[in-house]
Amino acid sequence: MSEKIYDVPAEWAKRAWVDQAKYKEMYARSISDPNGFWAEQAKRIDWMHAPTKIENVSFAPGNISIKWFEDGILNVAHNCIDRHLAKRGNQTAIIWEGDDPSQSRHITYQELHDEVCRMANILRTRNVQKGDRVTIYLPMIPEAAYAMLACARIGAIHSVVFAGFSPDSLAQRINDCKSKVIITADEGLRGGKKVPLKANVDAALAKADDVDWVVVVKRTGGKIDMNPTRDLWYHEAAAMVTTECPVEHMHAEDPLFILYTSGSTGQPKGVLHTSAGYLVFASMTHQYVFDYHDGDIYWCTADVGWVTGHSYILYGPLANGATTLMFEGVPNYPDNSRFWSVIDKHKVNIFYTAPTAIRALMQSGDEPVKKTSRASLRLLGSVGEPINPEAWEWYHRVVGDDRCPIVDTWWQTETGGILITPLPGATKLKPGSATQPFFGVVPEIVDADGKALEGATTGNLCLTRSWPGQMRTVYGDHARFEQTYFSTYPGKYFTGDGCRRDEDGYYWITGRVDDVINVSGHRMGTAEVESALVAHEKVSEAAVVGFPHDIKGQGIYAYVTLMAGVQPTDELRKELVTWVRKEIGPIASPDQIQFAPGLPKTRSGKIMRRILRKIAEDEPGSLGDTSTLADPAVVDDLVQNRQNKK
Ligand code: PRX
Repeated sequence: MSEKIYDVPAEWAKRAWVDQAKYKEMYARSISDPNGFWAEQAKRIDWMHAPTKIENVSFAPGNISIKWFEDGILNVAHNCIDRHLAKRGNQTAIIWEGDDPSQSRHITYQELHDEVCRMANILRTRNVQKGDRVTIYLPMIPEAAYAMLACARIGAIHSVVFAGFSPDSLAQRINDCKSKVIITADEGLRGGKKVPLKANVDAALAKADDVDWVVVVKRTGGKIDMNPTRDLWYHEAAAMVTTECPVEHMHAEDPLFILYTSGSTGQPKGVLHTSAGYLVFASMTHQYVFDYHDGDIYWCTADVGWVTGHSYILYGPLANGATTLMFEGVPNYPDNSRFWSVIDKHKVNIFYTAPTAIRALMQSGDEPVKKTSRASLRLLGSVGEPINPEAWEWYHRVVGDDRCPIVDTWWQTETGGILITPLPGATKLKPGSATQPFFGVVPEIVDADGKALEGATTGNLCLTRSWPGQMRTVYGDHARFEQTYFSTYPGKYFTGDGCRRDEDGYYWITGRVDDVINVSGHRMGTAEVESALVAHEKVSEAAVVGFPHDIKGQGIYAYVTLMAGVQPTDELRKELVTWVRKEIGPIASPDQIQFAPGLPKTRSGKIMRRILRKIAEDEPGSLGDTSTLADPAVVDDLVQNRQNKK
């Protein structure tokens, strides 16, 4: 916890869209007159039919229903591209920076229009209709943006699957939303290493029968198999279609995309976002939180496979006619100065990244940063996990030369856009705090019984009101939507996060309070890793918890009980790590595996994770009450053989 407070720099209060007085006034209005407030905000986008109904929301048990701007008609791709053409046709929409520093491209709004139309026409000629699902499994190349916007243009629902996921994870996501078309590349390129995307798709499709077409972008030219009746090269198909493609007229609540995310139980769920509310919210937050002005060069380092890439590389910035940078590579290739060199090369003004990257780069000292200029930088942002005050201070002092405010933005895949955040011209900063709610957002901290706590307090974070960017349902499973988010505290949306509010009303997110862990800013359900482990023939039982990790924020700690007669060896440990990487993807690799003859269970058979967490955290002295365990003796063995012993 940091006691330091950073005032709003005078020039920021002057130049920003919102200063402190304006924040107070707009926030008050957003709460007292949400319909009036959001009706005005809706004007930031173009409508084929402007909405007359603004908010229509019920959080009532048994009737969760969220609708915004429901009688409006629009097209998201039109808003992100076509409406800018008259004024900005020649302005750069996307700066693409390749993995190899010698490769970069500027794509104007006109070029973006033409490429998106081509991609849309390819999909149309493959009979993709409004409402059909298209799975996108691409690296960070411009075609990922073309593909997403092409879907939006013709009313197809995209489901982007992060290119680091395994064939099994991909297959499961293709099957869940019944995609008939996949868009992929031959190979991806990250940090000089190739990622076999098309081969992964081939493996996934052995488990997903309903796919008719695979569109393949040539990225590396590496050798791949093409199935002549199913696979087509993007560049060949693109040469046969035109650069004109009329936009589909979409209702405000027509789905825009599905994005799978991990929860505390079961398989990842398809978070569904719809068209108008999402776009209004993504564009508004992008403008105000990053204080985006015409001509600014803006860079969000996320991958389009995550929600941050959807809202803050693509939809928010492009709706605002911004220049957005898309980076194919990684922060430490070819060296640890890469981020800062890219900032200098493209004169980036606004830079948005994750604490895990900051902590990793901080480890290599100040020199790789200081040898670059970064004079163009004006604002820094952070997202994905709590940022520890040390990393915040380093980011501020070394990267931002004590000059750039930091916006620590709290939000979730489910929220569509940023909900708790400073506004750089309005909010005093406290390192480690996401500070204050965005317009229309009403956070509430509750105790275990759901009682709202007042003043300075700690508890679980809920939101009592809807906002336009809120997810609408879990794709194909509305009951699960209600169960996951609205059943713990009826009448409120429960975020799954713990939170403290201080005496100034500032919010400090303390991390997940459910069985979700946050590894390098990536959400991982412990249940998913456990089911991958027990799928191995030598494993009889597994329990997974998170533990504090210097770089990743949280690491993955797996307790594994082996089948009778199987020897616990270091080779087997390695084999299990490789197995999980193969089953889910590298982001799920366990950091520690402890072989456990038994797991601590209650007499009713429930695993006591609280105890497992303490052991993983190397705090055997604070296990608490173990008397309710069926066999208290298993704990001694676990403590003795713990892997994180200091
Ligand atoms: O625990 C919170 C953490 O990330 C979770 C959401 O993860 P995901 O849906 O993958 O979205 C990440 C990008 C928006 C939250 O429940 N989280 C996100 N941002 C912050 C954060 N925790 C603390 N501070 C943040 N700024």
